[in-house]
Amino acid sequence: MVRERIPVGVVGATGVVGQELVRRLARHPWFELVAVAASERSVGRTLGELGGWGEGELPAAIAALAVQPLASSLPASIVFSALDAALAARAEEELARAGGTVVSNASAWRMDPRVPLLIPEVNPEHLALLRRQEFGGGGIVTNPNCCVAGLTLVLKPLHDAFGVEEVMVTTFQAVSGAGYPGVPSLDILDNLIPHIAGEEEKIQSEPAKILGVLTADGVAPTPVRISAQAVRVPVRHGHTLSIALRLGRRVPLEEVRRVLAGWPGASPARGLPSAPARPLEVLEEPDVPQPLRHRDIGGGMTVTVGRLRPCPVWDVRLVAVVHNAVRGAAGAALLNAELLVREGLPQAAQPASRGLWVA
Ligand SMILES: NC(=O)c1ccc[n+]([C@@H]2O[C@H](COP(=O)([O-])OP(=O)(O)OC[C@H]3O[C@@H](n4cnc5c(N)ncnc54)[C@H](OP(=O)(O)O)[C@@H]3O)[C@@H](O)[C@H]2O)c1
Repeated sequence: MVRERIPVGVVGATGVVGQELVRRLARHPWFELVAVAASERSVGRTLGELGGWGEGELPAAIAALAVQPLASSLPASIVFSALDAALAARAEEELARAGGTVVSNASAWRMDPRVPLLIPEVNPEHLALLRRQEFGGGGIVTNPNCCVAGLTLVLKPLHDAFGVEEVMVTTFQAVSGAGYPGVPSLDILDNLIPHIAGEEEKIQSEPAKILGVLTADGVAPTPVRISAQAVRVPVRHGHTLSIALRLGRRVPLEEVRRVLAGWPGASPARGLPSAPARPLEVLEEPDVPQPLRHRDIGGGMTVTVGRLRPCPVWDVRLVAVVHNAVRGAAGAALLNAELLVREGLPQAAQPASRGLWVA
């Protein structure tokens, strides 16, 4: 089936996540980037003048897009949001009320009972919440916190197979997770910082919603207890998670390895343009995964798992690496938008103006 490409916009297009979205949209088979917005600092300048793009990285038409001020509507069916949460709370609602479908990276709407908190391989059925929303003609879909994206992809197959009762997780988070310009270099070089404001609360609450059951009233959270310690470390991209699990029953370690390595993710996500061949990859060498070596596997969309071993206190220990700006943000948002289009949601199915895409 050949259709026109769908016009999309990005608000917050000049930040860490916005730039990753722009890079990925520049070569996207279904979406055409037609509008970008950011703060007054960037308004009026073109994307080509802003950002740290490599030579030839942006097609001329995208490099020539001029940054607009944040307004309540954009000439696009789908608006990707890479705004700070404080700004997103109001701006995303206004964009939705103006008829856009907002696909957000921000935390502002994630825990709202009307809003899907989505990982297509994990809970695609939660997209049904979008049909119940009453934000004028539009709607809001969110992707989780960057550590939660990695953690929940690991938890889902284990929870389905054995039940996951308790999780202890320490995160070693890259500086790009703090946005641009982020943490001052003199604070983080030769150092680590054992506190990231608001992060532990998100890691402790969001997985229960994502793993929850869709009901008539929203989502009934799954009863999993999570204790998180977040640490900022001098890594450029890629968050590392050290995880200990108490499972619902005793299982041989080989069974855990088999479940993680063989997990294909939920079928509605398979074959979407941003979906990796495998959502999880289990590595066997003793000193992996490492962010520098493994964050880009599957185009940054595969979560790598290693150090799988018995836990002398609970059941299982492991280490996971997730690319915070891709699987934890821009790639996650694109995958959500692709699922939305595949599911034929009315908000996404507005007529497009130019280009062609093949489904
Ligand atoms: N970084 C990550 O790894 C990551 C992962 C998951 C989720 N997130 C979430 O994604 C969102 C964006 O994060 P980020 O790291 O990309 O942040 P960032 O680098 O600080 O970028 C923020 C963006 O918002 C724009 N902005 C700021 N004030 C504005 C205003 N008053 N009006 C319009 N635009 C404004 C900025 O434009 P200017 O450039 O013009 O200032 C920039 O484009 C946040 O909600 C964050 O929590 C980030």
